[in-house]
Amino acid sequence: MKKMKLLSLLLAILMLFNLAACGKTEAEPESEELPDFKAELTSTDLKYTLDELESMENDRTLLVNDPNVPALYKYFEGIVKIGVAFTSNQILDFEDPVTQGILKHYNIYVLGNEMKSDHCNPAPDTYNFDDADNFVKVAKAAGSEMRGHTIVWHSQVPQWWFKADPNDQSSLQDCYNNGTLASREQLIERVTTYINEIIPRYKDDIKYWDVCNEVLNASGIRTVADDSYWAEIIGDVDGNGYSDDYVEIAFNAAREAGGEDLVLMINDFNMEWQNSKTQAMYDMVERMLRKGVRIDGVGFQSHISVDCNVNTFRQNIEKIASLSEVYDECFPEYAGNFRVQITELDMNMFVGANADGGFYKWSEEEFKQQADKYYELMDMFLDFADEGVIDAILFWGTDDENSWLNSTPKLRRNAALLVDRDNTLKPDFWSVAKTSFYHTGP
Ligand code: G3I
Repeated sequence: MKKMKLLSLLLAILMLFNLAACGKTEAEPESEELPDFKAELTSTDLKYTLDELESMENDRTLLVNDPNVPALYKYFEGIVKIGVAFTSNQILDFEDPVTQGILKHYNIYVLGNEMKSDHCNPAPDTYNFDDADNFVKVAKAAGSEMRGHTIVWHSQVPQWWFKADPNDQSSLQDCYNNGTLASREQLIERVTTYINEIIPRYKDDIKYWDVCNEVLNASGIRTVADDSYWAEIIGDVDGNGYSDDYVEIAFNAAREAGGEDLVLMINDFNMEWQNSKTQAMYDMVERMLRKGVRIDGVGFQSHISVDCNVNTFRQNIEKIASLSEVYDECFPEYAGNFRVQITELDMNMFVGANADGGFYKWSEEEFKQQADKYYELMDMFLDFADEGVIDAILFWGTDDENSWLNSTPKLRRNAALLVDRDNTLKPDFWSVAKTSFYHTGP
């Protein structure tokens, strides 16, 4: 603990130093000069053997920040990155076990809320990058890669972007009814301006971006009926019969702003099981690739349930992964660069007869079922990792207490993740780690 106090102090001093140096300047220290969190948080004599893992897995008292617990990402190093989503306030206190768990176990990070465009561009000419700046600083200090989430979405996006008068206080539905939505030119100008702010700002630090998030419904591009005004306003610019041109515009702007090295992705949910949506994603990405829009990958959010069908999930990943042939054909100089990422993995436990369940105390037996399902999933993901298709798997939340599934679709105690509410490691933490030993390949 003394060590951690020293570490926190050191980081605080370094942060002050940076602030004094006016944030992102050339004088900012390189990540190598910052403390090595991961090494500090894990005992150096750990062997990462199956024996060692099996000696710990039944101990339900082990804490997420226990120095004798191996770091989860280490089991998969060189095969696939293991990541986590968190909120900006979870990386402020370096004494907090949850924060230490983040720093210790994962090697790719994503901010769950504070890099969304409503947070970063709340009003015209107003930018709020403080949380994102701190996220980048902490991730660099921890030696972790980062995903940027997200630019174009229908939710958590600045409402003023969509209004003819940005100061109009009426709802988008009213603007739609009254004919006071923004024009095509206004919306394109606003989103492009924003892209030109955020992408270059983090160009050297954030490699992976969800340029577009959840643009599809079950069979095609979202419409006003799905709460999205993007297609309504920008529409079918090139006259090819599809109103998805805003996706293309956003990708092209992001590429221009960030350069060829960025991995620009499109992210969506339900593709794990809804074949029609996966097909719609395939068709749209294929069409865009053939038009010269370089989309480097597709994110499967993977908000799944404990009864999910892993085989259907596998087939849908296969479908999207087959886009790599189109990508290689259209962009031969970047051949092999197309990928799938598992971007928001978590596991709803309220299923079957209990699907409508409310507050609940989960049994060890139920945790065991969850561990088995996570094992099955990880084993499938690793098949794709072995083939170079999946390069990152990120959990959507740090622990069962810090999960959106406790409030959606209603207030209840879900148990979606690898760490329990009291910061102890659940059986699924160990089953995920175990796949690294038992996985036999595709
Ligand atoms: O910040 C306000 C706070 O001031 C207020 O007191 C509080 C009262 O409800 O709300 C807070 O905002 C909440 C925000 O999270 C920050 O915690 C919003 O109500 C809440 O709706 C919002 O939920 C987020 C959700 O996206 C919105 O769609 C979740 O935290 C976030 O985990 C979730 O993430 C999405 C991904 O971006 C895309 N894929 C699905 C995933 C889960 O919904």
